Amino acid sequence: MEMIEFEHPVARDFVTRMRRKDLPPVQFRAYTSRLAYLLAVEATRDLPTIPAEVETPLENTLGEVLIDPPLIVPILRAGLGMLDAFQDLLPDSQVAFIGMSRNETTAEPVWHYSSIPNVAGKKVIVLDPMLATGGTAAAVLEYLFKKKVSEVILVSVVAAPEGIARLGAFDNLTVITVCVDRELDSNWYIRPGLGDFGDRLYSDGI
Ligand code: URA
Repeated sequence: MEMIEFEHPVARDFVTRMRRKDLPPVQFRAYTSRLAYLLAVEATRDLPTIPAEVETPLENTLGEVLIDPPLIVPILRAGLGMLDAFQDLLPDSQVAFIGMSRNETTAEPVWHYSSIPNVAGKKVIVLDPMLATGGTAAAVLEYLFKKKVSEVILVSVVAAPEGIARLGAFDNLTVITVCVDRELDSNWYIRPGLGDFGDRLYSDGI
């Protein structure tokens, strides 16, 4: 596994604003989306291109176009907050969904739904903003590698050291995050963290 802590002052500023407990969901969603654009730039840095001729208003020239765009897989529900930005930057990418929740007593991942197509040999970008125990991420990665994907980039916003350690043994995996926080608490929340990402996106905090 390769770990990239995304070093960007604007990204750190956004995450700091998102941590504020009184930030309303409408603004939390807006910062999530803006941050996802920055992370999408980082996550797509090594995508392959082929030369392509293009006719400008003045002359022909050689440019580049992306080939074989990666599959984008947001993990429901929190990953949905990052999807628009990734689709904007990768308009030709297919999108598939995995629905997971964690059992709040055992922290074990519970599998609800997946719509993953034939992905053998494909590069996959997984969107999962909070890498906590790593249980959900590990289950998703095992599933994708069993389906013979070539490489996975897991994009998160905040990661716990425990989650990063859990994913350490995976090959062909890059984890991108903005902040590595201190620890998990006894309820498996990331501390200091920003709370439940899905609730912050989609409920009004009540
Ligand atoms: N998922 C979240 O949304 N927040 C955490 O702190 C941990 C897991």
